[in-house]
Amino acid sequence: MYNSKIIGLGKYLPSNVVTNSDLEKIMDTSDVWIQERTGIKERRHIKKGSDDSTSSMGVKASKIALERSGIDAKEIDLILFATLSPDYYFPGSGVLVQDELGIPDCPAMDIRMQCSGFVYALATADQFIKTGMYKNILVIGSEYHSGGLDMTTRGRNISVIFGDGAGAVVITRTKKNDEGILHSQLHSEGKYAKELSLIGPNTGRWVPEIINKNDPNDVSYFPYMNGQFVFKNAVIRFSEVIMKGLEKAKWKPSDIDMLIPHQANLRISQFVQKKFGLSDNQVYNNIQRYGNTTAASIPIALTEAWEEGKINNGSKVILAAFGSGFTWGSITMKW
Ligand code: ACO
Repeated sequence: MYNSKIIGLGKYLPSNVVTNSDLEKIMDTSDVWIQERTGIKERRHIKKGSDDSTSSMGVKASKIALERSGIDAKEIDLILFATLSPDYYFPGSGVLVQDELGIPDCPAMDIRMQCSGFVYALATADQFIKTGMYKNILVIGSEYHSGGLDMTTRGRNISVIFGDGAGAVVITRTKKNDEGILHSQLHSEGKYAKELSLIGPNTGRWVPEIINKNDPNDVSYFPYMNGQFVFKNAVIRFSEVIMKGLEKAKWKPSDIDMLIPHQANLRISQFVQKKFGLSDNQVYNNIQRYGNTTAASIPIALTEAWEEGKINNGSKVILAAFGSGFTWGSITMKW
């Protein structure tokens, strides 16, 4: 049996910065409200007319990850692309990345697990490596939220939170069983599917039906979030999966060198940090600068933490996520 380890990381953020005061100009909100509730100061939005897309941001992050890994794109055996905002309804964005990277025919699979997408994708990649089926896997998280948000006061409880961006990692096999991904766990609870969702268009209401109805009050094609319910579930599930990851690795909270929580909301991260008694140096947050980038948030944060020298050989790292589905999970790894 092999273990899998990350050997290259990359990120890409669109250059267009949208501050809270920019949002104040287009909806009834305030910098104070946004910072108090979410910790967010600014986020990136793809500028209308720019060439950026979900897949192209994924490609840009992937090229950096590949270069840092020393692995040629043609040596990639599998692409896993986590997103809730794919370029097209079908096919998935993974095949678009494959084509852009010039990889002829490796499997390219989309993972539709929202905020937990990257954790699900990395855990899936780990299984393919453990069985020996694949050697080098490219795992991407990318989101283009801004074009689909209700940027009016009506949608303010959600629109202020989300941002665009992408992160990617290259993982490969190692024969050492005490390094790389040590444990992963995944969970879902479909009972709460609609508490954080974008319902329409869907196969029960195809697009022509919505267009024919042409109802300006139909908000079903914007994301919906039961914010306080999501918050309560998030803090419970984050804590459970981090605890389980610690137990499996036989680590204490003080052993953690870096916890990278999905950047849902700074208040959620702070709650978790306090619960486990972690110092600021043990938890990485960048939601202040990028907002919530859903499946991209963990690979972007992981890349930044590594770039800043906060993750090194031997570092004990935990990734943890919670999101729409509900879905949640964690990955425990030794760098
Ligand atoms: N600006 C100003 N006022 C606002 C805004 C805004 N952007 N959004 C909502 N409000 C108003 C509401 O209209 C409401 O006004 P009212 O009291 O006059 O009716 C008031 O603020 C309070 O609204 P709540 O929705 O109760 O606000 P809450 O304190 O719950 O904060 C928030 C909302 C930040 C979303 C919170 O519920 C939360 O943190 N939820 C966690 C979910 C989360 O972070 N999701 C992230 C994405 S999902 C994920 O990644 C897992």
